[in-house]
Amino acid sequence: MSSETTTGTAGARTRTPDLASAAPGCPVAGTGTAVDAGLPPLRHWPAIDLDGVDFDPVLAELMAEGPVTRIRLPHGTGWAWMVSRYEDVRMVTGDSRFSRAAVMERDVTRLAPHFIPSKDAVGLQDPPHHTTLRRAVAPAFTGRGVERLRSRAQDMLGELVDSMLRDGPPLDLTERLLAPFPLAVVCELMGIPEHERPQMHEWTSLILSSSAGADRSEQAKGAMCGYFRERLRAGGKQDGEDGEDGEDVVSLLAAAVAAGDVTEAEAVGLALLIQIGGEAVTNNTGNMAYILLTRPDLLARLREEPEVRPRAIDELLRYIPHRNSVGLSRIAMEDVTVAGVRIRAGDPVYVSYLAANRDPDVFPDPDRIDFDRDPNPHVSFGHGPHYCIGGLLARLESELVVDALADRFPGLRLAVPVDQLRWRPGALIRGPEGMPVAW
Ligand code: HEM
Repeated sequence: MSSETTTGTAGARTRTPDLASAAPGCPVAGTGTAVDAGLPPLRHWPAIDLDGVDFDPVLAELMAEGPVTRIRLPHGTGWAWMVSRYEDVRMVTGDSRFSRAAVMERDVTRLAPHFIPSKDAVGLQDPPHHTTLRRAVAPAFTGRGVERLRSRAQDMLGELVDSMLRDGPPLDLTERLLAPFPLAVVCELMGIPEHERPQMHEWTSLILSSSAGADRSEQAKGAMCGYFRERLRAGGKQDGEDGEDGEDVVSLLAAAVAAGDVTEAEAVGLALLIQIGGEAVTNNTGNMAYILLTRPDLLARLREEPEVRPRAIDELLRYIPHRNSVGLSRIAMEDVTVAGVRIRAGDPVYVSYLAANRDPDVFPDPDRIDFDRDPNPHVSFGHGPHYCIGGLLARLESELVVDALADRFPGLRLAVPVDQLRWRPGALIRGPEGMPVAW
């Protein structure tokens, strides 16, 4: 196989070049079988390490090529459809003819060498059982449930900021605030005692990155599943924990298992996804901080007009390319036509929420960050039954982090030239490795 590098973005590095047999924009040699005849060309989408909030050049090419394209990712077998326009993404993700449960039976072409969710995970269930599973933990994620966490989250963030101010600049914002804060919040939500939080963080980092190798990721996943299994068997709570109300996620899941609503394996899978999902906020707020520190005009506006902040956070959520490539696929359970393209029963289909967020028919001038964008119906948290369970929590945490950056660190700036910032290699979720700051 040739080892061409994807073109289009300075600083973009392909991670598995031997699997990238064609540059984007060129049909892949040798894939035009009789079965493929009449189908759009197959595009290889290699794993690329991108810097900052650069938009993936391969995704940009796929979007330009048409609303429904065909892709092959570095791992798994075969090819899949890729749907990129806003209305089509909403249609596919809201349509029960596309199944998540059926993905488990297949080795669908994918980004990650390892397959993250376990078989019983919420991401791989279809309604109505999917609905039952999510209902088990719903009280922790409703507006009321999340608001219950607000003052505790504020206190935890306040302590982290105070300690940074005490120690003085320069400091790594990721290490001192953007990593520990979401970890503390999600552990609070889950009911993980403080002394076990570093272990949770280590497992999450290994699961979410391919750079330590698929085996280490699988081991970490196994260890985290084992932890949750034990906690569920003990009824959720641990000795000495506070929060007698049983509304932490592990207690809610233990109650649902005891009631026979969900199996233990499903509860473990859901706990794992919530735990690792919680730390997605580190990367997303890392990208928010990066944008604000490299666009002083935007940060100045947030300081001068605090009332703009809720809209600004939505716009940053829309703009930030949260993940690399695409997430979990869906399988068409019958023939379905999407944007005039016939998708056959059994075909795997990906949607790109990142692409949908840049659809010019919905977001005029989509590549511009515009804090006055209104309406802003972005799909950064997904759409349909699998809509991000932690969306409200992520918004709350982003709000608190942006408040802290704008209000508690006057003169906040990067402490190193921007080209010295490093971005997580081999990560499914994109974000800075560190962010040295001064104020
Ligand atoms: C800014 C941060 C976050 C972003 C951008 C984000 C985005 C997403 C997206 C796009 C989906 C997939 C929708 C689909 O499969 O079609 C998702 C699912 C999910 N997220 Fe998040 N998320 C964030 C934070 C969180 C947090 C804080 C948690 C937990 C505390 C969380 C837990 C989950 C879970 C469990 C799912 C699977 C839901 C299901 O399949 O029913 N996420 N998220």
